[in-house]
Amino acid sequence: MRDIESPEDLHRLVDAFYSKAKNDKMLGPIFHRFVDDWEPHIRKVASFWEATLFSTGSYRGNPMALHQKVDETLSHSLEQSHFNKWVKIWNEITDSMFAGTKADMIKQRASNIANIMFIKIYQARTK
Ligand code: HEM
Repeated sequence: MRDIESPEDLHRLVDAFYSKAKNDKMLGPIFHRFVDDWEPHIRKVASFWEATLFSTGSYRGNPMALHQKVDETLSHSLEQSHFNKWVKIWNEITDSMFAGTKADMIKQRASNIANIMFIKIYQARTK
């Protein structure tokens, strides 16, 4: 199995992730509530990873603020278990498609970001 090498690889990875995540019992309903048009969403998330992994691409955004907003819209019901599930699916999909330094890096980064994201959401609630 080869490593993640290009923006096209990231697009394939993010696409495969959402194919699974949008049918997940816990996460699926959340994604369907916020995302109508999947292709632009997948492109945006892939460009986030391109910026994170390769320092290229055109991603502009603030994922931390955006997920706080998602939690607010969901009446503050995002929990650690949602993030654990997100990371579990992310790792499974990555391992099924790629192996190598970048693949390891993207799993590690996702897990770190998920942890920080949940802490920020939690802090935003108690403000
Ligand atoms: C409980 C876990 C998570 C849930 C339920 C979730 C849900 C969502 C939803 C609903 C959106 C679309 C929001 C909108 O466009 O209005 C979104 C966007 C996004 N998510 Fe997540 N997310 C989760 C975790 C993560 C993690 C851990 C990462 C990164 C490691 C991530 C990265 C992104 C990115 C990059 C976007 C696009 C941001 C933008 O539009 O600029 N998400 N997420």
